[in-house]
Amino acid sequence: MKRDIIAGNWKMNKTNAETKELIKELAPLVKDAKCEVVVCVPFTDLDTARRAIRGTNIKLGAQNVHWAPKGAYTGEISAEMLKELKVEYVIIGHSERRQYFGETDASVNARTKAAINAGLKAIVCVGELLEEREAGKTAEVVVRQVNGALQGIDKSGLKKIVIAYEPVWAIGTGRTATAKDANDTIAIIRKAVRKLYGKTAARALRIQYGGSMNAKNASELMAMPEIDGGLIGGASLKAEDFAKVVNY
Ligand code: 13P
Repeated sequence: MKRDIIAGNWKMNKTNAETKELIKELAPLVKDAKCEVVVCVPFTDLDTARRAIRGTNIKLGAQNVHWAPKGAYTGEISAEMLKELKVEYVIIGHSERRQYFGETDASVNARTKAAINAGLKAIVCVGELLEEREAGKTAEVVVRQVNGALQGIDKSGLKKIVIAYEPVWAIGTGRTATAKDANDTIAIIRKAVRKLYGKTAARALRIQYGGSMNAKNASELMAMPEIDGGLIGGASLKAEDFAKVVNY
């Protein structure tokens, strides 16, 4: 049985002190959640978050991982480093990484492989730009990104992957995709996965929606048959707001 997964992507927010406070506030509010609850915090907050979530149902995530096990890659972090800090999930290929830091389908694929080979679970992000949507290219773009990210990954690898569909124009803009649009695009993603891995594997894959998801729209989005969770930016930075999404 697959379980919905709501993950907070804190992006570049929260110091150690703030991390401690936010998790302390959040834990009691989400303790009865039916879904899996994850917080993806900045690297520097991982150890603090690891301590703060002890004894709770909150799981720990990071926001990127390098493809090499170690070496001369200034500014990067390896899967083993994350594992040591008890990280379970890692976001890969977020549109902000693709837009501002040159992340490509190939680098997303390499990072994803490294993550799952090391025993981490990957939250792989895909999503179209506004121009692409307006040009009617949404399906083409997300299918290309999905195929690229999953290249060379077998069925057992797929089990360690969650896909997050985040239309770029909906991120941080307050403009959410309609529940129907999100559902339709996620169905397209699932169809692409079915082509690669078959029906059962595609059905078992969890696909999240992300992009201005919040306390107000979470239940409508989560009610859609194809949507298995959410990747939450802004609304994950306040305990009360994030808890409302988790308890949709
Ligand atoms: P917002 O929820 O702030 O739109 O961000 C979504 C996102 O990018 C999550 O990864």
